[in-house]
Amino acid sequence: MNAPGIARGPKHFLDLDAFDAATLRRMIDDARRMKEARAGRPKGAPDDTTPLTGRMLALIFEKPSTRTRISFEMGMRQLGGQTMFLDGRDMQFGHGETVGDTARVLSRYVDGVMLRTKRHQALVELAATATIPVINGLTDRTHPCQLLADVMTFEEHRGPIKGRVVTWSGAGNNVCASWIQAAVRFGFELRIAAPEELEPDAALLKWAKAEGGHVNIVRDPYEAASGSDALVTDTWVQMSESDQLGEGGARSRHNMLVRYRVDDKLMKAAKRDAIFMHCLPAHRGEEVTDTVLDGAQSVVFDEAENRLHTQKSVLLWAMS
Ligand code: CP
Ligand code: NVA
Repeated sequence: MNAPGIARGPKHFLDLDAFDAATLRRMIDDARRMKEARAGRPKGAPDDTTPLTGRMLALIFEKPSTRTRISFEMGMRQLGGQTMFLDGRDMQFGHGETVGDTARVLSRYVDGVMLRTKRHQALVELAATATIPVINGLTDRTHPCQLLADVMTFEEHRGPIKGRVVTWSGAGNNVCASWIQAAVRFGFELRIAAPEELEPDAALLKWAKAEGGHVNIVRDPYEAASGSDALVTDTWVQMSESDQLGEGGARSRHNMLVRYRVDDKLMKAAKRDAIFMHCLPAHRGEEVTDTVLDGAQSVVFDEAENRLHTQKSVLLWAMS
């Protein structure tokens, strides 16, 4: 990947580890400014300035989406640009055409591409060949767009995230991986309460340590939650796994993860003013109870809204 800020090749947004802290901080600051500037305006109205006028962003989804699709579509419109939705399963690259050839073709038609894929390697291959910016809209390994929104949301509710404590309780999945990268780049402590079988990738934990990050596995969710400023969780089975796991696999996942469910008792173990975060969609009654998700400490719909504002920052960084 090209280094951020260097005018050589397209500016891809693949993962947070490729960025320095200052660039990520600027994206969040820009998002906050754009959010404030739009307060009270109709959602479909363009921004005061529309720097992406005439630009086309292709949105390729191999998996379902509500938030990612709608926030990218609205974000591009507000910035003056347009989007083209493509179902990855209908495209030739879902039927044997190489990702590289797809990248070459897309680069002739559109100005940028966002990909949601079951195979992280497909994203890497797309970015390696495309001559236009490529944005990660979630893979089986990471979800960086979500984390920009999550850091922005944390800070709206609790002030600067640097030095604060966030506890992840659940499977060490793709969203958890991006939380690890965010903890390193934004300088907060991340405790991960996960069963041994579902811990995050060892190489990623090693990277976090080498970068001087404060990321630790704390097996017991109550010990992990103690003194935390935020509790975070996510679905027990991610979209890229659901086909392979089947009913038996899903049942065993449930048994492994049930003690990591975020309920009122676990929330009480955190700081009194701790917030609850979840990227959504939630499986109510599984990884989180209704009382927590709908409770006063939950900020999940602010996270969903902030996907719009932070992605506009990413679009401006990559495409303007
Ligand atoms: N959080 C998130 O990416 O949601 P969608 O799957 O609805 O896009
Ligand atoms: N971890 C979830 C996130 C969905 C936005 C999944 O990959 O299915």
